[in-house]
Amino acid sequence: MSKITAAITAVGKYVPDYALTNKELETLVDTNDEWIYTRTGIKERRILKDADKATSYLAIQAAKDLIKKRDLDPTDIDMVIIGTATPDMNVASTAVYVASEIGAVNAFGYDLQAACSSFLYAMSTASVYIESGKYKKVLVIGADKMSSIVDYTDRATCIIFGDGAGAALFEPNEEGLGLQDEYLRSDGIGREFLRIEAGGSLMPTSEETLKNRKHYIKQEGKTVFKYAVSNMADASEKILKRNHLTNDDIDWLAPHQANSRIIEATARRVNLDMEKVMVNIEHYGNTTSATLPLLLADYEDQLKKGDNIVFAAFGGGFTWGAAYLKWAYNS
Ligand code: UT7
Repeated sequence: MSKITAAITAVGKYVPDYALTNKELETLVDTNDEWIYTRTGIKERRILKDADKATSYLAIQAAKDLIKKRDLDPTDIDMVIIGTATPDMNVASTAVYVASEIGAVNAFGYDLQAACSSFLYAMSTASVYIESGKYKKVLVIGADKMSSIVDYTDRATCIIFGDGAGAALFEPNEEGLGLQDEYLRSDGIGREFLRIEAGGSLMPTSEETLKNRKHYIKQEGKTVFKYAVSNMADASEKILKRNHLTNDDIDWLAPHQANSRIIEATARRVNLDMEKVMVNIEHYGNTTSATLPLLLADYEDQLKKGDNIVFAAFGGGFTWGAAYLKWAYNS
């Protein structure tokens, strides 16, 4: 019997309708369209305006899109993993709620939190479950309502983040397609530079934390930028070398969408033309756990069975890595 690999067999996406433009941000903080676009590559980001809708809403819409496109019976799904840094609630898992809402009544689920690397790590987790032979259909969703943790008086963060969700179905493959290799790393030094200080067990919510705006995401942009550039590029280079791949062998680079300058630096390090690099940051900004599956959904029409795709991500924690996957279908 041939070896079982974990292939992506369908993708789906959802972004809210409301586009928060650079022009509108100019009315909220001291910034301008030119600065934002030249420093980040972002023109607009989508925002889920409805106060009563959370990350689960984004995830459910992305999952429904996948289910419809693939004509999938949700009762056949074995497992739902949601990569997210903005779960609906602490303690009650967002994935469990989403599984029930999409009719995946035979599935179990849980959330995976690795900031902007959540989807990359979740791909690894899903693949191991599939390769074990125990599970046949694992739904991985990257979803974040970043607007729920962004301080719209802080120009260092509010220009970057947006809301969105993407979904990918992992299934067993016996043709050697799907996930081939991964290189995943983390370093606790990162929690000094990108975090929400309060609301966890280290600093529970209090009048003081609310007054001092400690429930919003804060980052030291310059430091995070430096770590992101060197680590995303290193990880991508390592995965190529380890698999004896040259730039000619790579059909696509799917990099986390945090900043177009980080994306370009990663592409340069592995000597790839920008035509081979998936980019949609201009329209969505940094959607944290959703960037990689949103790329797959946006580029799905251009992907061909057998294409070699290198994923790379970097996020808070710090967390980072790269993965090498062979695309499994023509759409
Ligand atoms: O998803 C994974 C985690 N996140 C990331 O990977 C993000 C990594 N960091 C970044 O993308 C960039 O560091 C930022 C986009 C956040 C900032 O860009 P930068 O080129 O690193 O800018 P900077 O923080 O070094 O600031 C340069 C200047 C400063 O002015 P002075 O001191 O040179 O006069 C800032 O005060 O730009 C100023 N500035 C702004 N100006 C207009 C900072 N934010 C803004 C702003 N609009 N929004």
